[in-house]
Amino acid sequence: MKIAVIGAGSGYMPGIVRGLLHRAADLPGAEIACHDIDAAHLDVMSRLAARMFAARGAAFTVTARTDLKAALDGAAYVFTTFRPGGLAARHLDESIPLRHGVVGQETAGPGGLLMALRSVPVLLEIAALADPAAWIVNYTNPTNIVTDAVSRATGARIIGLCDQSVGDTEMWADLLGLPADRLEADWTGLNHATWAERVRLDGRPLDLPALLDALEVPGGGATPWRDPARMAELAKILGFLPNSYAKYYFFHDEVVAELREKGTTRAQDIMAMLPDYYAGVAAEAERPDPDPSRERGGGEHGEFAVDVICALERDEGRRMIVNTRNGGAVSSLPDDAIVEVPAIVGRAGPVPLTMGALPRPVRGLTQAIHGYERLAADAAVAGDRRLALQALLAHPFVPGKRAAEAILDDGLAAHREHLPQFT
Ligand code: G6P
Ligand code: MN
Repeated sequence: MKIAVIGAGSGYMPGIVRGLLHRAADLPGAEIACHDIDAAHLDVMSRLAARMFAARGAAFTVTARTDLKAALDGAAYVFTTFRPGGLAARHLDESIPLRHGVVGQETAGPGGLLMALRSVPVLLEIAALADPAAWIVNYTNPTNIVTDAVSRATGARIIGLCDQSVGDTEMWADLLGLPADRLEADWTGLNHATWAERVRLDGRPLDLPALLDALEVPGGGATPWRDPARMAELAKILGFLPNSYAKYYFFHDEVVAELREKGTTRAQDIMAMLPDYYAGVAAEAERPDPDPSRERGGGEHGEFAVDVICALERDEGRRMIVNTRNGGAVSSLPDDAIVEVPAIVGRAGPVPLTMGALPRPVRGLTQAIHGYERLAADAAVAGDRRLALQALLAHPFVPGKRAAEAILDDGLAAHREHLPQFT
């Protein structure tokens, strides 16, 4: 069995290797076919993988290729985890909207549209080269738009991943003083725009409005991924749990001011640490039993992805929160929308669980985001500037036509070399 990892030179790779190790017994003899267009990063990460597998007695073989077709050939799973244009392009996604008064974020809002325009053509190429029976297990962002575009344009089997529901459940467990490993939340909606009205502790429903009423709003504590103070403040009014990305919608202008004040983008902050990070990984790859840094993708990220592959391969019927075709699971969104919901994942793919209507205070917002995402997917496939503008006009962040045009013009120009469908 062959698992192709496209983007294996990514800083997230040590976490993927740990994820593979945690399920090594369930994937015996698999070939881990590493691919990246960055030969140096590919070399470091594939050597690290081979060394870690050998040290722990995992029966994987590791291959490393910069040729996409060869990496995909015969793969049953195509795990995609790359960022077209790298972090330099992410910096543009995060800074261009900000110039025009809009939150600059890699997945939410106009930054996400620009990333979608770059990611979708590469995924379409992968889908065209891969075995039609293969599963594309996709982390490339924006995962929802990529999943929608690829499945509608090619009919390929694709499942969209995000570890946010795992991380957010942990954050809420911390805030509410509950054990994360005994909580199960029905996160429902769209990627990076999910909501949980139903949360169970050991299978018993919690009285969330009462718990949130009693919740003391902490001060500070914000990290690049978490903003517990704002989330608590918001949840107390909503009466249910918001995804951490809700911060960009409900505190938009504050976040714009903060991002401007900060002066560097998240991409710049990561680029500043990456040389040391890769040097550390390279040093670990020489050691008999490497233990590389967990600074990038150190949490559940890798394990979650490998668990999804195992659920598909072994027909486990496991409940997992993934991005897949709605089919009526969320009654407030069209049947053919890609939604992020709990699903039972087995050999036939994810079967979404019935979640019902979205909570009223966020129903319209989530529907608007869906409207944007569908237009963004179509624009990315067709290379259609007018559709891309319509997508921006549909997005709740964008204040009007002038801002939409300015952001799109700047973005298309800045990313020209990664947008073959627009030329
Ligand atoms: C979370 C999100 C991912 C996103 C990542 C960014 O894990 O779910 O979709 O790519 O954060 O993290 P970074 O450290 O690159 O800012
Ligand atoms: Mn995500």
